Amino acid sequence: MNNFNFFSPTFFVFGKGRENEAGKYVKRFGGTKVLIHFGSGSVIKSGLLARVKASLKAENIYFTELGGVQPNPRSGLVYKGIEICKKENIDFVLAVGGGSAIDSAKAIALGALYEGDFWDFYEGKQIEKALPVATILTISAAGSEGSMGTVITHENGMLKRAANGEPLRPVFSILNPELTCTLPNYQTACGATDMMAHVMERYFTNTKNVEITDRLCEGILLTIINETPKALSKPNDYEARANLMWAGMVAHNDTCGVGREDDWSSHNMEHELSGLYDVTHGAGLAVMFPAWMKYVMHQNVMLFAQFAVRVWGCEMDFENPENTARQGIECYEKFMNSIGMPIRFSELGAKSEDIPTLVKTMGLGKNTLGSFVKLTEEDVAKIYELAV
Ligand code: NZQ
Ligand code: ZN
Repeated sequence: MNNFNFFSPTFFVFGKGRENEAGKYVKRFGGTKVLIHFGSGSVIKSGLLARVKASLKAENIYFTELGGVQPNPRSGLVYKGIEICKKENIDFVLAVGGGSAIDSAKAIALGALYEGDFWDFYEGKQIEKALPVATILTISAAGSEGSMGTVITHENGMLKRAANGEPLRPVFSILNPELTCTLPNYQTACGATDMMAHVMERYFTNTKNVEITDRLCEGILLTIINETPKALSKPNDYEARANLMWAGMVAHNDTCGVGREDDWSSHNMEHELSGLYDVTHGAGLAVMFPAWMKYVMHQNVMLFAQFAVRVWGCEMDFENPENTARQGIECYEKFMNSIGMPIRFSELGAKSEDIPTLVKTMGLGKNTLGSFVKLTEEDVAKIYELAV
């Protein structure tokens, strides 16, 4: 196991009706002038936004609001949010919604305390401070409620890029699984796929002897595989929703990634797809992950066989472990199909003739992508080809 630091100070408030305590927690974490940030309308329709505002009013906390975050959140609204924060001396950003609203809130929190262009942080500038961010989550997926990441698409060039830094971990996150019952099945499935991908980006590693995190990863994957079909067939299944919601958090706050090298190639290749075609992140991952697995499997066939046996219940072929490894990838693809996810480029509307553009926009140049296998631009192009 590698040396590591792990500091994940988010305070979690989990369970039915807990969004009504938002005001109490904003106060506890020092918010006095709040920007409430949300998406394209689901939180208005469900009545959640009204409940959150009532909870802030009950604590006499001043707030202003900015809605309209779209999936694959854009830079334009971030600039608007930063302007509001600076003009009104906002000291706390409260995101109500999914990963997109949360990531946009984190970007605003960064820019509010910075004189330059917030995009600098998405081009690699180190993050030192941000306004405190809190979340009220409505979809189990991105894990942004516990992560130190934010992903934004710049409208100039439609570049989708991530920024990471400890000050971006939410100070508190309210997780009420009931709020996720209104999700369309497609979003539930995309969310489950993203959660699985967060685990798998960490699971396929060159670090040896990481039994604890291997087992944590496998447990989270098994949970998602068991609970997702329940939530899809019965959207109001509270227990399935609750298990998925916590799985999404532990999949990405790094509990299962510490002490081991992680990869993130599939995520980076997916971000180019989301940037170019505006596809839903989870759906893009369902297509990119199996292509990546097929390409890099020979780096450690036994690890892929372990994945097949422990996660998918495949029988170990001791004579030919590669058979078992391949079966695991097939099981993953079958599961994706069973929950309504695409596994091919064409199902996303992506085109093979755009592969050179996808590779070029990624801008690797002479650098490499990922760590399990260090991929060159040529490798990346081949993986996109495998997904066609
Ligand atoms: O915008 P509204 O009207 O709220 O509708 C949303 C949106 O259309 C809807 N929705 C959310 N909760 C709902 C609901 N509809 C009905 N009932 C509810 N309870 O679902 C749609 C998707 O929402 P979005 O926030 O985009 O989903 P998600 O949480 O999957 O976030 C995706 C974004 O997160 C980024 C992705 O790249 C993508 O941009 N990621 C962020 C990460 C991070 N910050 O750590 C890591 C991830 O790997 C990921 O890259
Ligand atoms: Zn993701």
